[in-house]
Amino acid sequence: MKKLLLLVMIVPMIGFGQNPNYSEDIAPILYRKCLQCHHNGGIAPLTLETYASVVSNAGMIQHVTSTGEMPPWPPDTLFQHYAYENTLSMNEISTIMDWITNGSPIGDTSLLPPMPTFTNSSLLGTPDLELQIPTYTSTATSNSDDYVCFSIPTGLTQNRKIRAIEVIPGNLQTVHHVLVAIDLFFNNSIVTTSNCMGPQGNMIYGYAPGSSPLIYPIDINNSFGVVLPANSSVTLAMHYPEGSFGQLDSTKVKFYFYPQNTVIREITTDFLIQNFFFTLPANHITQVSESFGPTIQDYSFMSVFPHMHLLGKDLECFAVTSTNDTINLIKINNWDFEWQGFYFFQKFIKIPVGSIIYAKGNYDNTASASNPNPVSVSAGLNTEDEMFIFIFQFLPYQLGDENISIENGSISTNIHEATTIYSLRELLKITTILGQSTKPKPNTPLFYIYDDGTVEKRIIID
Ligand code: HEC
Repeated sequence: MKKLLLLVMIVPMIGFGQNPNYSEDIAPILYRKCLQCHHNGGIAPLTLETYASVVSNAGMIQHVTSTGEMPPWPPDTLFQHYAYENTLSMNEISTIMDWITNGSPIGDTSLLPPMPTFTNSSLLGTPDLELQIPTYTSTATSNSDDYVCFSIPTGLTQNRKIRAIEVIPGNLQTVHHVLVAIDLFFNNSIVTTSNCMGPQGNMIYGYAPGSSPLIYPIDINNSFGVVLPANSSVTLAMHYPEGSFGQLDSTKVKFYFYPQNTVIREITTDFLIQNFFFTLPANHITQVSESFGPTIQDYSFMSVFPHMHLLGKDLECFAVTSTNDTINLIKINNWDFEWQGFYFFQKFIKIPVGSIIYAKGNYDNTASASNPNPVSVSAGLNTEDEMFIFIFQFLPYQLGDENISIENGSISTNIHEATTIYSLRELLKITTILGQSTKPKPNTPLFYIYDDGTVEKRIIID
């Protein structure tokens, strides 16, 4: 048995419990976890790129990090973990706190990590199909958001198997989120729907600032993907936030296909949990629940996408197997319509035959700043209605699926024949403690050095 012992990330630990300083301790956290939105020209109203801007907003930063408001990551990570999770560890939160309490020292600026760069260019290279919304001017006002859907014909004359999807926001400052769905209806030309709280059809991807492209999992034996049917349209459901009035956008979605003869294991998207029969009386908090099952076969679950509208308060969803094991799927303690999307499990989750999936959620229809005159609200698709649905991506289980990683992490992935390589980081070299390059060796501590500047110390115990 090979066991991998990871003694990871020694670097961010330095300074913990001591006197943290900006250059060595704080900037590395902000650069990795905040700047994707908080850079000049990014979606967030505040840039956190410089020491001066961080210091002058220190109180607010301490507040939003200690309450868990920032970075925005709605799922409760004590309940379930996901791929691409962007959260702060307890150490990082207390490092920020200690730094502020100790007068926010700048430290030695020659030790600052390299400033990350943000563009809206593609990480995956030339796509097989690119669809773009017509140039659109946001109608969001200073106190209301703009939700609009564009259904765009693909022009495909045959079915294709999707290998990867990437959304390229036309304007990093206005595109708050984008949901991508395969439209069930055929259109000859682009159809625009305003006041669109969610796309109709098979939802396949959700983008928010800092999102990674979706590359369907692949291993030696399996290629996973989704079929994009001939003559279909693809819907982009756009969310432009308050204050973006008059700004222009022309977001694109890029599709990368498998070679036509690839045998894929097709991932299904389905609204397994949906309740369209509820009413939320004014001035009440109401709980809505629903279940699905028992399941008729073993399934491998890839992701979950919970959806409520503006009165949603919290939600929870889990499966119970026929032998009474509970499998946690998702829990959101503070539902925020602004931050929603697919949450991909770290590996496929096996839901055995005979399981029942349970979901419940609370809606707050009492008076508040955003709901000053509550009226009774019913389930429905419109902005003024509410929804209670959980969309899942899944497929029939095969032995070993639970070991297949969904996050692409450090594995370089061949998107298609065109040799496009995508990787979040690549291994540059392995060295001994003394700095000599070496091959992986058991029972010896070695340093794994990656191109993004991270270093891991590993011992492989044989
Ligand atoms: C995915 C994008 C995103 C990430 C990542 C992110 N923020 Fe934000 N942040 C926002 C947006 C957008 C706002 C504006 C308010 C809102 O929409 O919630 C905001 C607001 C703020 C505010 C102002 C709050 C106020 O009341 O005005 C602070 C401070 C802040 N963020 C700090 C951080 C810190 C620190 C991090 C990293 C630990 C971070 N944010 C990560 C998007 C992000």
